[in-house]
Amino acid sequence: MPTFGEDVRTGLSKENKSISSKYFYDAKGSAIFQAIMRMPSYYLTDSEFEILETNKAEILKLFTADEGPFNLVEFGAGDGLKTKILIEFFLKQNVDFTYAPIDISQDALDNLTNDLGQRWPELKINPLHTDYFNGLDVLQREERRNIVLFLGSNLGNFDPTGANLFLSEIRAHLKPQDGLFIGLDLQKNPHVIVRAYDDPEGITKSFNLNLLNRINQELGGHFDPMKFDFYCSYSPETGEVRSYIVSKTDQKVRIDSLDFEAEFKQWEMIHTEISRKFRLNQMPALANNNGFEFISNSLDCKHYFVNSYWKAK
Ligand code: AVJ
Repeated sequence: MPTFGEDVRTGLSKENKSISSKYFYDAKGSAIFQAIMRMPSYYLTDSEFEILETNKAEILKLFTADEGPFNLVEFGAGDGLKTKILIEFFLKQNVDFTYAPIDISQDALDNLTNDLGQRWPELKINPLHTDYFNGLDVLQREERRNIVLFLGSNLGNFDPTGANLFLSEIRAHLKPQDGLFIGLDLQKNPHVIVRAYDDPEGITKSFNLNLLNRINQELGGHFDPMKFDFYCSYSPETGEVRSYIVSKTDQKVRIDSLDFEAEFKQWEMIHTEISRKFRLNQMPALANNNGFEFISNSLDCKHYFVNSYWKAK
């Protein structure tokens, strides 16, 4: 795996510059993302929350179809706000499960484990400080089923090819009858989508420009964030929100630790993120093409978001 520095060098050397949104989430970036999730216009969080709250009993039935104990595995849990709905309900129903959050941030895992442990001392927690696929391999040493939660439309950050590769890779680390419960943002009125990403307070702008601060701090970069802007656009044809950092002037920026200088023409862009929106009728193919059997969809009342349950074939 390339390092942050290697990816920055490669991304800023291309004809069309880009840096992956996976680098948004340092401590500052994670805090800004929390603020994004509290913006009323960022409907994704509220919609998925509503789906889980309204459908928790049906979701439990999907997960416990065979009555056996299972691991509730979560990829990138963050503060676990949405997962707590399911955990609370499952505990009340005396379900035999262990919550296994997987995250490469020890900090995030510690906070979540402390928080959940205080609230529910009876909850079995098995935090795994590793990458997602290695975490699944560790869990496969037990015989019990694994149900993977991949919430928040995080799959939307992949292009279509990358999304299929990622889903197939999840499948490769599961056994037949294991489950995947995935949350995906749906195509809708394009004005609603644009408002979620192009907020007037500039919170999403600071989320993107924080990448430049991160390069300054971690790689000895000399970016002046004031000389950059943020732009994003939604295409209803592709279902993609594409986000960019924009250079407001001609400028050269040195990055000391890379012994590298990036040159920007005025209005040149650094592509940072894809946030892909799906169509409901894509769910069965998305499951089937990647080794899963499509089981069912749960929706919020506005049909903004879907949580789709699939079983490993
Ligand atoms: C966490 C990847 C789902 O794409 O909507 C929020 C990140 N970017 N605002 C998304 C994000 C801009 C978010 N995901």
